[in-house]
Amino acid sequence: MALPPGPRTPALVTTYHWIRRPQPFLTECRDTFGPAFTIRLPNLPPVAIFANPDDVKDIFTGDSDTMLAGRFNLSLRAFLGDHSVLMLDGREHLRQRRLLLPPFHGERMTAYGRIMIDAAHDAIDRFPFRSPFAVHGYMQEITLHVILRAVFGLEEGPRLDALAEAVTNLLEIAVWPPLLLPAMQRDLGPWSPWGRFLHYKRQTHGMLLDQIRRRRAEQATRPEGLEGDDVLTLLLQARDEEGQPLTDEELRDELMTLLVAGHETTATGLAWALHWILTTPGIEARLRRELADGHFTPERIARLELLDAVVRETLRLQPVLPFVGRILDKPVRVGGWDLPAGVGAVCSIYLAHKRPEVYTEPDRFNPDRFLGTKFSPYEFFPFGGGIRRCIGMAFALHEMKMVLATVLARTILRPAHDRAIRAVRRNITLTPSDGCSVVLKRRAPRSTAAHAA
Ligand code: HEM
Repeated sequence: MALPPGPRTPALVTTYHWIRRPQPFLTECRDTFGPAFTIRLPNLPPVAIFANPDDVKDIFTGDSDTMLAGRFNLSLRAFLGDHSVLMLDGREHLRQRRLLLPPFHGERMTAYGRIMIDAAHDAIDRFPFRSPFAVHGYMQEITLHVILRAVFGLEEGPRLDALAEAVTNLLEIAVWPPLLLPAMQRDLGPWSPWGRFLHYKRQTHGMLLDQIRRRRAEQATRPEGLEGDDVLTLLLQARDEEGQPLTDEELRDELMTLLVAGHETTATGLAWALHWILTTPGIEARLRRELADGHFTPERIARLELLDAVVRETLRLQPVLPFVGRILDKPVRVGGWDLPAGVGAVCSIYLAHKRPEVYTEPDRFNPDRFLGTKFSPYEFFPFGGGIRRCIGMAFALHEMKMVLATVLARTILRPAHDRAIRAVRRNITLTPSDGCSVVLKRRAPRSTAAHAA
């Protein structure tokens, strides 16, 4: 049994690098130790990190009863709940995943496209003129409203506003990276970070259960089934192989998971996309030409090739989540290493996406590399892989295209400065250090990007 080599710095020093400078740290490890290396963090099992496609394939296609993603994600349990699909392994995971998948099927995206465009319009109307502003915050508002409307089926109004506020408060605290460490998850009163987190979590849970119970009551009065295209409606009607529905607690934790997994991630992807669009010569003009060459409808936007390539190249160059991992329940051979039971096996999305063998000039934003080329799921995997691949992948890609198209159709934005920006950690996501700071030069009325053909 052996682990790949890795830094021997004290665990606290490694923690500092892991949290404060995650990308340079990974690059230094790769340059020093090669394509597979091991890092050690306090109170956690060692994790062996891989980026070569063959090794990534071993991990994604390995036996899911041995390679446990739920156990790897354990540090998120306090945020998402015991019943969250992200926490589960084996049969339980498959049951929940099967129930969750149908509402996120690619074909359903047209139904959500208009909600996404409307949410983008609302945010664009509030972009300030003259002073620089961080676009990331507006993207978070958009993606939160989209989840509350498309997933929860809420209409604009006081109920949606109250839940949006509770979730925003909750996530503002939850994204503080040290809270991921078990030692920080201690309630030291209402002013301590964890105490405040628990307060907002109780508040959010109460609202989620209220929404579930109201919809169940509605369901009871309609034997013909609930109306509505939203994900919650479909989940309330979903039955497992034994004909059982999801319980209230399961639904609550899944809604919380969809909120947390689907909102910050997509907003961050959007902020990075705008950063690259505004700072890479020629791209914005080409996108505008592609967009202007036809009607502004969700169906057409979804098919625009350059826009699609821009979204994929964004997620390649700057993956929102830098890695995915599994804890080994038994010894497993990965990349020629006989890894012992109990350790983590991690696929570094960041390092895999920077391999010069696959991507020429890997540090350059070049969406053309995606035009006419399909990379393998072990070379390009911003949404993870195997039976754990992101459930919201089609939803996130669709949303990024709808929002970017609406922003481009209605505004002229310019970068607020020319300083270099870094990727900084917010909980488990990597966001632009300046929040993608821009200046609004021009804003056209909504009718410029009218829905109808
Ligand atoms: C750009 C946006 C997004 C990115 C980069 C992203 C990325 C990921 C990644 C890397 C995983 C882990 C996969 C693995 O372990 O192999 C994941 C899982 C998951 N994501 Fe996403 N995600 C995004 C948006 C969304 C959205 C919009 C939703 C739903 C509304 C969502 C729901 C989920 C769920 C439920 C899982 C757990 C799947 C499972 O364990 O079986 N994600 N996502």
